[in-house]
Amino acid sequence: MRLRTKFNLVLIVACFLGLSAASFLTYRAAQQNALQEIENEIALIRANALAVRNYTSTGIKPLLSDGNDILFLPHSVPSFSAQTVFAKFQETFPDYYYKEAALNPTNPDDLAEDWEAVLINQLRANPDLDRISVIRDTSAGRVFAVAFPFTITNPGCLDCHSDPAIAPAAMIDLYGTENGFGWEMNETIGAQIIWAPMSLADQRAMDLIVVIMLAIVAAFAVVIVLVNVMLSRIVLKPVSVMSEISEQVSMGDFSAPEYVKKGKDEISSLSTSFNRMRRSLDSAMKLLDD
Ligand code: HEC
Repeated sequence: MRLRTKFNLVLIVACFLGLSAASFLTYRAAQQNALQEIENEIALIRANALAVRNYTSTGIKPLLSDGNDILFLPHSVPSFSAQTVFAKFQETFPDYYYKEAALNPTNPDDLAEDWEAVLINQLRANPDLDRISVIRDTSAGRVFAVAFPFTITNPGCLDCHSDPAIAPAAMIDLYGTENGFGWEMNETIGAQIIWAPMSLADQRAMDLIVVIMLAIVAAFAVVIVLVNVMLSRIVLKPVSVMSEISEQVSMGDFSAPEYVKKGKDEISSLSTSFNRMRRSLDSAMKLLDD
């Protein structure tokens, strides 16, 4: 195999190894980045929902209930307003999802699905957890879902969620006495479950990886061109000239001019020693001839 081919083969193999190592490392970092971005989006959705809940209980509820049952409207309920506002948001961002899921919900629409109940039970079993994150495959593609515990820390919640006898009568008329009662202080009764699609973040991660790969290929292409040019000028050309001359000399033809490679590298000193050897051989031959 020719010297140039050997060098190029080694460089190409090194390029492939570099590409695989870089793709492995950057893929993980890019994925991590993507997840972080989704987590930020989820944190924004949650902060917005909590703000709506807070506004409803402090700004709307006093206006609409005022201790008067007849004025009870679901619109004064934090959970109702948070989910209604999110439903509007979802018209613009249909891939996002927000639910106040409970194991024993007041509104049957809020009943936790099986996978949601698993997360809620994990949160109930580990009161120190402030969230659980999972990646789920859904019909709309992969999503990153986070469950934040709903723990009753405000005694005011129990006005409507402990005993039907003390709940507003108008609420009982609307929702019945079967569900959403019997909740206790410090009990995790459900979770805010929020998810966002992975596709956008995956795409961003992929774009980043492609740019890094292209940069590596470009860097190797420059190295390969430079190595080939240097190899030719410094090694291959002088060696092939010397090899041609030695071919002629070995056949007894001393007519070719001496080849001197300038410089101080190994090939230059080889050309000098080669010329010296050739001169010695020439004089030895002449002596023989005499
Ligand atoms: C005025 C009565 C009232 C008060 C006070 C109240 N809720 Fe509710 N809550 C309801 C009603 C009614 C619903 C069902 C709303 C709907 O139709 O979506 C509900 C729904 C919920 C849900 C969604 C699951 C379900 O049961 O459908 C959660 C979680 C919840 N409430 C938590 C709380 C917490 C926490 C507090 C205290 C900060 C609180 N609620 C205070 C009446 C109340």
